Amino acid sequence: MKGIILAGGTGSRLWPITLSVSKQLLPVYDKPMIYYPLSVLMLAGIREILVITTPDDRPAFASLLGNGRRFGISIEYAEQATPAGIAEACLIGADFTAGEPFALILGDNLFFGHGLPEHLDAARQQVETRGGAVIFAHRVADPERYGVVTFDETGRVLTILEKPDRPPSSFAVTGLYFYDGEAAALAERLTPSARGELEITDLNRAYRDREALHVRQLGRGFAWLDTGTPDSLLEAGEFVATLERRQGIRISSPEEIAWRQRWISDDELLATARALGKGGYAQYLAALPDQL
Ligand code: TTP
Repeated sequence: MKGIILAGGTGSRLWPITLSVSKQLLPVYDKPMIYYPLSVLMLAGIREILVITTPDDRPAFASLLGNGRRFGISIEYAEQATPAGIAEACLIGADFTAGEPFALILGDNLFFGHGLPEHLDAARQQVETRGGAVIFAHRVADPERYGVVTFDETGRVLTILEKPDRPPSSFAVTGLYFYDGEAAALAERLTPSARGELEITDLNRAYRDREALHVRQLGRGFAWLDTGTPDSLLEAGEFVATLERRQGIRISSPEEIAWRQRWISDDELLATARALGKGGYAQYLAALPDQL
């Protein structure tokens, strides 16, 4: 399975910070934001990843992530000329996915919680063996800001609405989607919404209309954070800092995940740690092999 990280957008709610730097390169405590969605795809066992950026930001992402080798994966890049909607990622990535199933994740979404690898495995299995699409729902206090789903006890989606005035449930659709090989063809048939975007909710609705949209509910022990405003960015950083300081571990470190998956050797991990210098993140990576 392949993976796409959509990391374009305007980040206008963070202006002036994001006038000259992509939101997804901003720090969330001790690492760049894109490390978090990258870690999710890697936890799903995905090793071929396409990063979609704005044309202006592409060089900065390439200098941060390179070809992915130090994470034991391959990373390619593509550009989204204008923020014409999340579903456009399926079209931009069509050559890359080449009709295979893939996971799509938004570059500003953070997922953390016990059982995440099991959720990812189950979603992957579902689209690889039975086809269709899998989305993830999380209960939120302000569902009207998101795509909202209702579903039955088997996880079959009944309704899915984009930013409804009167939300029929409290379950927001998160920025992580698993699709079968049909997604690009279905996205081709979408027309832009009133706000001029190819809506991911419309793509998901196309799957729902084929009775092929499934939802997995992330429970209350789960954190799903987005980082689009100054407050939510700060809160996400504080959340990560609290967990990491308390436990003495790092969360969502792609280098650590690569090493634990045995995609990179001890020596490769240590070479990365040396290249990163003397800071706390480098020291953490350097100490990992000794902790076993
Ligand atoms: P949004 O938060 O909806 O938009 P934004 O990041 O441009 O920020 P703002 O609303 O403050 O202007 O986007 C969610 C994520 O999806 C974010 O990681 C950017 C990405 N995205 C794209 O890359 N291209 C798009 O066309 C859209 C709509 C979003």
